Amino acid sequence: MNTRAGLNLRGLIRTIPDYPKPGIMFRDITTLLADRAGLRAAIDELIWPFLGADIVHVVGIEARGFILGGAVAHELGLGFIPIRKKGKLPYKTIGQDYELEYGVDTVEIHADAIQPGDRVLLVDDLVATGGTADAAIDLIRKSGGEVVAACFIIDLPDLGGAARLRGKGVTVHTLVG
Ligand code: PRP
Ligand code: ADE
Repeated sequence: MNTRAGLNLRGLIRTIPDYPKPGIMFRDITTLLADRAGLRAAIDELIWPFLGADIVHVVGIEARGFILGGAVAHELGLGFIPIRKKGKLPYKTIGQDYELEYGVDTVEIHADAIQPGDRVLLVDDLVATGGTADAAIDLIRKSGGEVVAACFIIDLPDLGGAARLRGKGVTVHTLVG
C-alpha cells in the first residue's frame, strides 16, 4: 500500500524466515521504525480514521504496540494505557491467557486503568492469529471499556486474526495486508 505521502510501507518492512521458530515468516518493523518518513507515514495512516473521534485512551500491547501506541496517543492528544506480559505491571491487575502464532502467554492490564464506559483505541504492530488482540479486547471489556477500533500496521490475513476480531464486533484498521 502506498501512503498519502507516496511511501510504500510494505517495502520498509523486512521479513526474516524461520524466526523465532522454523516456518515462521517474521515481519520485522524495526526497519520501518528507523525510517523517519516511514514512521511518520505509518502513524499518520494509523490515526486518520480516528481524528476527532470520541476516544479517551490509546491502549498499546507490549512490546511493539508501545512504540506505535505512544506515538498514536501523542498525535491524537490522548493518554496511553499499557497491556503487558504477565508480571510486569506493579499494581493490581486483570489477566487473560491467550495463544499466539508461536506460543502461549498471558497479558495483563492495571485493574484501575480503564473506567467503565471509557472508549479506547487498541494499537499493535501486527495481527496474525488475533489471539493477542483478542485477549487485549477481553481485558478492556472486563474493565468496562469500549473498544472503538483495533489498529495495526500489518495484517497477516491467512491467519485470520482481523476476521476473528471483527467477529467480536470490533472495527479493524490495518495498513499492509
Ligand atoms: C507479536 C505482535 C503481536 C502478536 C500478534 O508480539 O507484536 O502483539 O505477536 O500475534 P497474534 O495475532 O497471533 O496474537 P509478540 O507476542 O511476538 O511479543 P513482542 O511484541 O513482545 O515481541
Ligand atoms: N507475531 C505473530 N506472528 C508474527 C510474525 N509473523 N511476524 C512478526 N510478529 C508476529
